[in-house]
Amino acid sequence: MLNIVVCVSGGGTNLQAIIDAIDSGKLLNTKIVKVISNNANAFALERAKNAGIEGVCVSPKDYADRETFNEAFLAELNKSNPDLIVLAGFLVVIPEIVINAYRGKIINIHPSLIPSFCGTGYYGLKVHEAALERGVKITGATVHYVDEGTDTGPIIMQKAVEVKEDDTPKTLQRRVMEEAEWIILPESIGKIAKEKE
Ligand code: GRF
Repeated sequence: MLNIVVCVSGGGTNLQAIIDAIDSGKLLNTKIVKVISNNANAFALERAKNAGIEGVCVSPKDYADRETFNEAFLAELNKSNPDLIVLAGFLVVIPEIVINAYRGKIINIHPSLIPSFCGTGYYGLKVHEAALERGVKITGATVHYVDEGTDTGPIIMQKAVEVKEDDTPKTLQRRVMEEAEWIILPESIGKIAKEKE
């Protein structure tokens, strides 16, 4: 069994895709043991609760400084002793102490075909605004391992999505989620779960 902790900050549609893939039997040998959010109001925590999964908020706002938050975040992860940490729209920079403790065991979903439109400042809608600004005809999503850089770790899986003439950042974001993110994130976890068997 691959025990995973999913880290979230917002709506949690990628978390929901993992939950649904497990429930439907598409994603095997995988158990979400905890959801951690830096945002107490993240709807992702509601999704975890509805699925009977422990949800915890660990927010930098609740700590005197970043170092203390980093230690608390690592401690919360360690409590679950995960085989894999999945960043699903997690907007917190992963501290070095976590990278070192879980090297090769942290993956992230990014809403573009890395190396395009990634790195510092490229998150959420900004990614799709940049893709439309550049006029690319194809974009997509990438699942990659997390290292010390931003969106720089080894790529696990990518899926392309067509950009339509009348796309807005919102319509493009939705299509990339539906046609790419919600498919390749569970598939990537399944690939890792299979390797662990
Ligand atoms: C997604 O677009 C994901 O690619 C990006 O942040 C967004 C998270 O959405 N990392 P959700 O919280 O999973 O709905």
